Amino acid sequence: MEHVGSAYHRVHRASLEDPERFWLEAAAAVDWEQPPQRALDSSRAPLYEWFPGATLNTCHNAVDRHVQAGHGERTALIHDSAMTGTKSRLSYAELLERVSRFAGVLRDCGVTAGDRVVIYLPMIPEAVVAMLACARIGAVHSVVFGGFAAPELAARIDDCTAVALVTASGGLEPGRVVEYLPIVAEALALSAGSVRSVVVKAREHVPGRAADHDATPAAGVRWLDWDEQCAQARPAATVPVAAGDPLYVLYTSGTTASPKGIVRDNGGHAVALAWSMAAVYDIGPGDVMWAASDVGWVVGHSYIVYAPLLVGATTVLYEGKPVGTPDAGAFWRVAAEHRVNVLFTAPTALRAIRRADPGLDLLARHDLSSLRTLFLAGERLDPETFAWAERGLHCPVVDHWWQTETGWPVAAVPRGLDSLPVRAGSAGLPVPGYRVEVVDGQGNPRAAGEEGNIVLRLPLPPGSLRGLWAGQERYRAAYLTAFPGCYATGDSGHFDEDGYLYVMGRTDDVINVAGHRLSTGQLEEVLATHPAVAEAAVIGVRDELKGQRASGFVTLKAGVDLDEADLRRELVALVRRQVGPVAAFRDVLVVQRLPKTRSGKILRKTMRQIVDGDEVAVPPTIEEPAVVDDLLVAVDRYRASGAAGG
Ligand code: COA
Ligand code: AMP
Repeated sequence: MEHVGSAYHRVHRASLEDPERFWLEAAAAVDWEQPPQRALDSSRAPLYEWFPGATLNTCHNAVDRHVQAGHGERTALIHDSAMTGTKSRLSYAELLERVSRFAGVLRDCGVTAGDRVVIYLPMIPEAVVAMLACARIGAVHSVVFGGFAAPELAARIDDCTAVALVTASGGLEPGRVVEYLPIVAEALALSAGSVRSVVVKAREHVPGRAADHDATPAAGVRWLDWDEQCAQARPAATVPVAAGDPLYVLYTSGTTASPKGIVRDNGGHAVALAWSMAAVYDIGPGDVMWAASDVGWVVGHSYIVYAPLLVGATTVLYEGKPVGTPDAGAFWRVAAEHRVNVLFTAPTALRAIRRADPGLDLLARHDLSSLRTLFLAGERLDPETFAWAERGLHCPVVDHWWQTETGWPVAAVPRGLDSLPVRAGSAGLPVPGYRVEVVDGQGNPRAAGEEGNIVLRLPLPPGSLRGLWAGQERYRAAYLTAFPGCYATGDSGHFDEDGYLYVMGRTDDVINVAGHRLSTGQLEEVLATHPAVAEAAVIGVRDELKGQRASGFVTLKAGVDLDEADLRRELVALVRRQVGPVAAFRDVLVVQRLPKTRSGKILRKTMRQIVDGDEVAVPPTIEEPAVVDDLLVAVDRYRASGAAGG
């Protein structure tokens, strides 16, 4: 193995041979109120707790301690909005002032340690402030991405029984203003009524104010203006919490219609993220990190908000797109202007840039000499895009793999430990702390080069999920039972002879659209609510730009006579209303029958092969083989109509 004997290898081995020592040493990078005496409590395995008995405050570690150490003037946050053409900076001292005041606002709303606060905000500094303010008083935030519709927001409010909601008048998407307050009002009306206060940041150019809603309060909900409340509030001090107490709940798609609330603790999270900044990203105090994601996703939580601030670096919060705001040079402009050292984005963003500017002519206009590494995650970095980026950027391009659940990278080529080479198509080597295995359906190891289920042997390192908000039984059932002693990632792939991991796809019905994780089961449930639909199947099909896109197949109830184009429009609108624009749902095919096994299971894999134009392997268990031919004809007809992939 090429990397045996390397620094990476030594560190990886040390982390697995003596995790207790390894993580206690790493814990020294964090300020504790009550320092940990031991790292891991395994007494309730397979449920584990990191740093039992220790207490700390995550906001203190991300903000206060840097000011106390004399670095108050250092830039903590750069906000760059390509949507409004504005840029602003907050020093650590200014961030402390803003966060403590907003923490005071939350406290005045009656939010106390352990209470849940839903944050539904666009990419503005208030999003970072609100998250840190929750952490400051020991409250648990749950950030909901702005591209989700009211029913999704309501589902999250109800699942975590949020007592407060922090929002803004709206977000800005190219060519349209997304007004948040009608969505929030609808979500509150749909929800069970746990929310008592809504705090609204009024944005310039986006209509909607707290006062408009406070005049007609629904069921005792107070609507408060962010600026007015902050002007009056007394700053709140940090509240120490147990290392194992939840810092946040972040919902992600699973195989069922209801999203899973991933619970992150305070102590393990702070230790793991601080460690990853040095070891994986090679970022330290004063460096500039830009994760071009959204605070609504785990990448935003970990590498826009917490990790850069935990280590005293500068983080960039970008409101805009990789293309069209105003052009495909937007990323290079931001990276050059703010002297970004590490850029982190999703392959789909690179593909969008490549499509618009294949020769990278716009890059040549900017000085990217500060850029040390480009990290990619969210979906597999296809070798072609990798080669294009590496050629054009003159800096290492590193694919790395992780999930909302793990909170930080599981596989990467850790830039801070070594200068091991990257390999096209591979997500890199197992990151220290993780014991990654590829196994068959029965849990037997697969040899190098053989495809299988990617599992992580327990215990997971600090920073990975504590469990699910819905309870540990659901956590066990979803992740810990399929392969005893292991966490099932839901991804499949293989190792090569040198231990590089190749993550090739999901083993379940989760799909990945433009780096956004969606549940096909959820989309099917929504389609099935249409009165004309008898049965629905949704599959993820290949998409040149977004990696995958959701394609819906429906059969109609007997006697229904509807124009197909009208039905398609109605179903697309239904998904947008129920799930949100983030689903980017456009394809609907009406078919006579769905291919099924004799036991009634829909053959999604066969359907995917038909749509992707791959060789179709029809399983012998199929109920009616002729359905496959019907489907081939329907797909061809649909393509010819010009409706596909719209
Ligand atoms: N609030 C409201 N709506 C949003 C939104 C938000 N925060 N983010 C996206 N949407 C909307 C878009 O406006 C679009 O709406 P439309 O149907 O009216 O056009 C829809 O959701 C789909 O958005 P998206 O998938 O982003 O497609 P796009 O065509 O607007 O942009 C890319 C394509 C590739 C440029 C874009 O997907 C991108 O930048 N992807 C990177 C993803 C990423 O960073 N993922 C995080 C993982 S690290
Ligand atoms: P999310 O929880 O939204 O971050 O999505 C996690 C899922 O995205 C993983 O389980 C993978 O299926 C996919 N994914 C993320 N990063 C990569 C990568 N580098 N290579 C392949 N798949 C990835």
